[in-house]
Amino acid sequence: MSTNSLPRLMPRLGVNIDHIATLRNARGGTHPDPVDGARQAIEYGADGITAHLREDRRHIRDEDLERLQALCSETGVPLNLEMAAVEPMLEIALKTRPHAVCMVPERREERTTEGGLDVAGLHNTVTPMVRDLQSSGSRVSLFIEATERQIRASASAGTDIIELHTGAYAHAIDAGDMTLSREILTALKQGAKLGHSLGLEVHAGHGLTFDNVGDVAAIPEVMELNIGHFLIGEAVFIGLKAAMEKMQDCIKAGRSA
Ligand code: PXP
Repeated sequence: MSTNSLPRLMPRLGVNIDHIATLRNARGGTHPDPVDGARQAIEYGADGITAHLREDRRHIRDEDLERLQALCSETGVPLNLEMAAVEPMLEIALKTRPHAVCMVPERREERTTEGGLDVAGLHNTVTPMVRDLQSSGSRVSLFIEATERQIRASASAGTDIIELHTGAYAHAIDAGDMTLSREILTALKQGAKLGHSLGLEVHAGHGLTFDNVGDVAAIPEVMELNIGHFLIGEAVFIGLKAAMEKMQDCIKAGRSA
């Protein structure tokens, strides 16, 4: 299907609930519970729930993942598990069998996921993991920068989905660097087009806010947006329902522009 013939469907909104767990972990108790957050997000129309089980378990923990998988199975809402491309995480994903697994780069010292997975450099590691995950019934997504090299490497690794990293785009806008933000947006558009032409489903995420989501939502090949930190932060002020409604409105406005 050419880009021109893509339907103008709204991108799905995947709500990343990691930072409800961050808040809980700040006091070490059980409140606020990220699984209750996921339940509410589903009630308010989330198209999917995303959670990143980090190797250092700084937000979501193993028992959260088990409860999230149970909730998503019960409600029929897809669970997208983000994880590092390493053996111990693979074992957990194969046991949990979420709807989708998104492989991301991970460094312990980073505050959040910086940069995309180097699928080209890690091709021999990533390719068998993609196969194993698909064999267990999960769809596989690779979180990458929108470069031709990484997109082609992802296609050749056999992934179903690429998620384009929008973090640098968000940073450029925050820094008021409109030249850079336009350049990155162009790369995202070209990357989405290339990924789609190679038969990949295209998602996008990281650093998205009410202000910057519109131009990303406008990219016709983007089928899903995964948004966490800003939504949960905004929920502290206006509640999760209102934050999600406003985000959906911004996505709709961007896509329809
Ligand atoms: N997509 C991926 C692959 C991520 O790793 C993250 C962060 O965990 C997000 C989306 C969401 O980013 P943010 O929390 O900045 O909205």
